[in-house]
Amino acid sequence: MIKKFPVTGLFVIGLLAIATLAFTPLVTSVQAHKGASGVVKKRMDAMKDMKSQLKVIEQMLESKKHYSAKKIHKALDIIRAQSGAEMSKLFPKGTAHKPSEADPAIWKNGAEFKKMTISLIHSIDEFRAKLPEKINMEKLEALKKGALVIRRSCKTCHDRFRL
Ligand code: HEC
Repeated sequence: MIKKFPVTGLFVIGLLAIATLAFTPLVTSVQAHKGASGVVKKRMDAMKDMKSQLKVIEQMLESKKHYSAKKIHKALDIIRAQSGAEMSKLFPKGTAHKPSEADPAIWKNGAEFKKMTISLIHSIDEFRAKLPEKINMEKLEALKKGALVIRRSCKTCHDRFRL
């Protein structure tokens, strides 16, 4: 019985080695992203924050979480505060360098970019106007469409201005 232990130990070390190898590429990509600093890091953080806020909303609409109009309003506030002019501010000229994925086209088409930051605000406001205090199936379907419009505002800009 006792003899078995070293064998098991080696086996575990072997497994750990494989796991370490398997994780190496992942770690590298995370570190590359962490290399961001200054305004590039700031906008990446803002974008990630918006993504998680949108997730909170979508989970409620998919009935994975309890519906709470109050929580949705709060998530919308956070997204809205980082849209429009606040978003444009985080994209000053000359910040398209690595690890940023911002397309230099942003600075050649500044007006178009600005417009997209503002359409995000509009999609949020339209969605908010439909937000009921209490939810039922019919209202839920309408809200899901509204949430898709928000997501589309994000995607339209990413398709156009994110590498
Ligand atoms: C007006 C354009 C625009 C809008 C609107 C926009 N984004 Fe982005 N987003 C970008 C650009 C450009 C980048 C790349 C930024 C960089 O790497 O410097 C980006 C990057 C991201 C990233 C990656 C961040 C990282 O860590 O690299 C996420 C996540 C993201 N956006 C989520 C969202 C969500 C969610 C919305 C909508 C609620 C949204 N974005 C709306 C332009 C936009």
